[in-house]
Amino acid sequence: MTVVSLPEILDPAFEQRYGVAAFNAVDDITMDGLIKAAEESRSPLIIQISVKTVHFWGVDVIKDMFTDMARRVSVPVTLHLDHCPDPEVARQCLEAGWNSVLFDGSKLSYEENFRQTAEIVKMAAQTGACVEGELVAVAGVEDGVGSDEEGALLPIEDEITFIRETGIYCYAPPIGTAHGFYKAAPSIRYERLQQLVEATQMPMVLHGGTGLSPEVFQRLIALGTAKVNISTDLKKTYADGFRTYLEEKPTEYNPLKLIGSVRDDVKRLAQGYFKIFGSEGKA
Ligand code: 13P
Repeated sequence: MTVVSLPEILDPAFEQRYGVAAFNAVDDITMDGLIKAAEESRSPLIIQISVKTVHFWGVDVIKDMFTDMARRVSVPVTLHLDHCPDPEVARQCLEAGWNSVLFDGSKLSYEENFRQTAEIVKMAAQTGACVEGELVAVAGVEDGVGSDEEGALLPIEDEITFIRETGIYCYAPPIGTAHGFYKAAPSIRYERLQQLVEATQMPMVLHGGTGLSPEVFQRLIALGTAKVNISTDLKKTYADGFRTYLEEKPTEYNPLKLIGSVRDDVKRLAQGYFKIFGSEGKA
């Protein structure tokens, strides 16, 4: 059984300055491809799930599928709920035994976000889980959650207080990255990231990983980004995988060959990121 807590995966990553990929799985094909990739590359892995995906499959189906696949491998794997603005959905996942949740209170006032995040932290502690916090909305909509624009920045002192006093375990800082495909290269606030890490010594989470260069990833990881989120690239690989296969073999009616090919595409994608993030061989 190698299902572990998020800190068991991120503490060493933060300390040794490598990144752990957190992929937004959507089903059994993606989950299996990602977990097999981690096992082959000896890399730790975070499987994260959007609220939309939770509603599609159900909290328990995802948890059971994850547990069953993860317990067959020997690398550490953890199950995380991505961007959840609804405390009720977070509660359901925590009660079902998910390992961590991102409570996304970025649409709330500072005070209300602080209060609700601290409550989720207490709830999570009861099941041995932990919480990622978010104060300022990351630009771009992630599976129906979020907005096109980045939220207004707050004084860094407010962010530091939020990080130190809500009880969160890791934090999604507003550093100019965005969900989805970039239309132009983002202007990244490296300095702000550095200040937050220096002040709090908390593992940081990179949102909007798709489309960043290896150099950008590595610079952010060196500054203390331990969890690196990838969603759009996985969705693209998945959809392109089906499309290309079916276009190439329009009269072959062999579902297992089709999904096997897509699963291999997902595996290759994940292994490429493990290399870039420096997590290959760390498990
Ligand atoms: P991308 O969709 O840009 O890869 O971002 C993923 C993410 O940050 C999930 O929260």
